Amino acid sequence: MPLGDPGLVARLRTAMDDAGGDISFAEYMDLALYAPGCGYYCGGSDLFGSGGDFVTAPESSPLFAACVATQLGEILAGIDGGDICELGAGSGALAADLLERLAESECLPRRYSIVERSAALRERQRAHLALRLPGLATRVEWLDAVPREFCGVVLANEVLDATPAHRFCVRAHGFAECRVAWRDNRFVWTQGECSGSRLAEHLEGILGALDHRLPAGYVSECAPARQDLIADVGARLKHGVVLLFDYGYGRAEYYHAQRSNGTLRCFHRHRAHDDPLILAGLQDISVHVDFSAIAQAALTSGLALAGYTTQAEFLLASGLLQACEGVDPGTRRFAELTAQIKRLTLPGQMGEAVKVLALVRAYDDSLTGFATRDLRNRLELKVGS
Ligand SMILES: C[S@@+](CC[C@H](N)C(=O)[O-])C[C@H]1O[C@@H](n2cnc3c(N)ncnc32)[C@H](O)[C@@H]1O
Repeated sequence: MPLGDPGLVARLRTAMDDAGGDISFAEYMDLALYAPGCGYYCGGSDLFGSGGDFVTAPESSPLFAACVATQLGEILAGIDGGDICELGAGSGALAADLLERLAESECLPRRYSIVERSAALRERQRAHLALRLPGLATRVEWLDAVPREFCGVVLANEVLDATPAHRFCVRAHGFAECRVAWRDNRFVWTQGECSGSRLAEHLEGILGALDHRLPAGYVSECAPARQDLIADVGARLKHGVVLLFDYGYGRAEYYHAQRSNGTLRCFHRHRAHDDPLILAGLQDISVHVDFSAIAQAALTSGLALAGYTTQAEFLLASGLLQACEGVDPGTRRFAELTAQIKRLTLPGQMGEAVKVLALVRAYDDSLTGFATRDLRNRLELKVGS
């Protein structure tokens, strides 16, 4: 199995040398995905869709965007002059589909801002939108962060699970950090003390909040950087909703005693596996989201929790099945639509594994996508928060 992109392998080895031998897994994941020019998301290759490595919901079917547009239209109608800000827009497919749908229903936002970490993907999104929607592309802008005093909807699909996470291992007394080093011409796991007291504090908070003890040898992940991201978004949102779609669980499920090897997943040419130390820069690396930690960070930054449900419930409540109305069941079109609906909703596919979290500030209206199944109790947030 190839070690990875030669430029990235060299970059990682330099980082390890500079750090005295090894780096945290979060640093490894950060470089592997985002090192300029050679990280997985920062090269020029095709990552998304059938010709790439993995398929996200918006790449899988425009029905995803159709349902999200229904929810966005409802929110924007309640916020006079609200805008949309998408984090991590990938190929730009969701942005294009959403703008098209919102134009059809005459509720276009004044601005559609994209905050994208990868310069290569920013260019790809620009080209995609210019080609698909030349008349609407002028509404789209690329920014480094959500605008301050933002009013409207901040949206992210599969962005948090692509944000670097730390990996740790429970010991008989305390825990060790899983780090990455270069030995015998390959990357290997090492164990060390937590890199920085913030990680140790963070882990103590997580483990202390569980009502079960994790056995020695238990391996999992945690991602303080994701909480920082949400706290920053929360501080910038003045009025509106943050909608997050991602693979993940509430804390008790995330750190379930049986999930003893964490949630790390890599994708290369549609093959999923759990070894991030091969194919550096050539494969996607993701770590599921601890939605309790995200919701807690949001509450601390002054947002309120308005909804938490599965992707299947969100899409069905937002009118997913209407796509089939009036379509003859004997037709090829009907077969295509039902295949797409299954991919988006079946429990074995994205339906249950992907969750949707809604966080709000100064927004009291109900949210259609969360009307049918409320899973907020699974987040087990601290009383009074
Ligand atoms: C798994 S892809 C998902 C792309 C797209 N949202 C979709 O669903 O097809 C992750 C995306 O998030 C971007 N990203 C990751 N962290 C980010 C951050 N902190 N700010 C902005 N974009 C980020 C990546 O560059 C990439 O575009």
